[in-house]
Amino acid sequence: MSIKTRFLLSYVGVVIISIILLLVAGFLIIFSITGDPNSIENFYKKSYVQKPLTTVEESAFLDLKLLAKHTPEQLLNEQQLKKIKQKDIEIVVRKDKEIEYATPSFDNQVLVRSLPGFEETNINTRDTIKIDDFFYTYVKFDFYFSDESQGSIFVLRKASSSAELARELFPILFGLLLFLFIMIIGLLNYLVSRSIIKPISLLKEGANRIKSGDLNFETKAASNDEIGQLNRTFDEMRIKLKESVKIQLQYEENRKELLSNISHDLKTPITSIIGYVEGIQDGVANTPQKMEKYLSTIHLKAKDLDSLIDELFLFSKLDLNKEPFTFESVDLNQFIRDYVEEFHLDFLQQGTQIEWNRMDKPIFVTADREKLRRVLANLISNCVKYAERDKVNISISLHEGLEDVVVQVTDNGQGIEPSALPFIFNRFYRAEQSRNSQTGGSGLGLAIAKQIIREHQGDIWATSEKGKGTSVFFTLKKGEQK
Ligand SMILES: Nc1ncnc2c1ncn2[C@@H]1O[C@H](COP(=O)(O)OP(=O)(O)O)[C@@H](O)[C@H]1O
Ligand SMILES: [Mg+2]
Repeated sequence: MSIKTRFLLSYVGVVIISIILLLVAGFLIIFSITGDPNSIENFYKKSYVQKPLTTVEESAFLDLKLLAKHTPEQLLNEQQLKKIKQKDIEIVVRKDKEIEYATPSFDNQVLVRSLPGFEETNINTRDTIKIDDFFYTYVKFDFYFSDESQGSIFVLRKASSSAELARELFPILFGLLLFLFIMIIGLLNYLVSRSIIKPISLLKEGANRIKSGDLNFETKAASNDEIGQLNRTFDEMRIKLKESVKIQLQYEENRKELLSNISHDLKTPITSIIGYVEGIQDGVANTPQKMEKYLSTIHLKAKDLDSLIDELFLFSKLDLNKEPFTFESVDLNQFIRDYVEEFHLDFLQQGTQIEWNRMDKPIFVTADREKLRRVLANLISNCVKYAERDKVNISISLHEGLEDVVVQVTDNGQGIEPSALPFIFNRFYRAEQSRNSQTGGSGLGLAIAKQIIREHQGDIWATSEKGKGTSVFFTLKKGEQK
């Protein structure tokens, strides 16, 4: 059963139950007042509530009653009656079926029809009757005239018109109230159901779109209630899903690219090794000098291959977070000095000058020594490789910040094209000119440096000016002295 039908049923149920309760309550109220179950039946037959007369009317009635008991004939005497009747009191005297006396406002014919009959026992003396569309409360006394004819005296009082009006209009008022009640409940029911059903159908529509693979829509929440929250959560879920699909696609793309890059980079040295080996087999290397040249080229290519595989292996371990790090407190000032001193002579022989702008105090960072050496080696080897000039100047300096230390490695090389600069830290990325050059390299050096620095919670970036040189910066978190 749909929620809509359930709402409709509950609405109908509420209306029916309310009407029944209303009727039962009305019955109980009337019953508890009158103590007479039949009173409901008689509600429209006669008024069962005794409406009192005024004291003046009561005393006039007593006077009349006294007359009726002792000297009934006096009641036929108009003068006598006028004495008793003070202003505004309605009196009627009836003898048998004849109206002997009536306050002038009444029409005798109507009175004969409307007044209650004779009753010897005088039990039902007070009641309400309708005369000419007006309600009257009356008190009656029945007696016998001396000629044995039946006599009745009435003192009447026009009933309060508003109360009677209410009684007369009761069915209309009740119907109107009932109508209003049904309308209000209906309206509330509609509003509540709309605030629930509409957002739910939005959710349903959204779920269907997701099912069919469409994630580019928005489920708006119109309210702050539970359903609104559900809509919001649903939309957050869609956004997450969209992101994860995007990442998935990117991973897939990366994986394909990685595979093709690896195959390409492995293929190149292997092809030339095969070429040289075949050259030897075919007897092309027919002199010891040629043989020597062929063999050393094969050796070089094999070493290239070996270091490429090493880099690939390291990169993939870093990428999968499989490479263990041992962090310790390192005095960066001392560390870089040692590193530069270690390779100073080697570099000098290649015509490379390394300038180390040391600080005059120890600077402690938290780092993995082995990995940090790797980063420095990758940066410095790039400076040398891409300088394309005989005299290479490399300068290394430290800048101390509040929470971290920035290491800067600057060269006076050819620089990097601004269009290539954003990509140099991507894996396998090599700026076009270096791809064609004889320098070799996998395009993994900076990607590896970036992974390592990231593992140190640091940042790495580069600035470069074409023809002037390149600076690579990385940050390390400051550590405690040990
Ligand atoms: N100091 C530098 N001067 C000029 N170009 C550089 C420098 N460092 C890096 N590059 C450019 O960035 C690319 C990526 O460097 P890297 O990741 O170390 O790969 P690889 O050295 O194997 O080519 C290099 O191919 C080169 O084009
Ligand atoms: Mg490199």
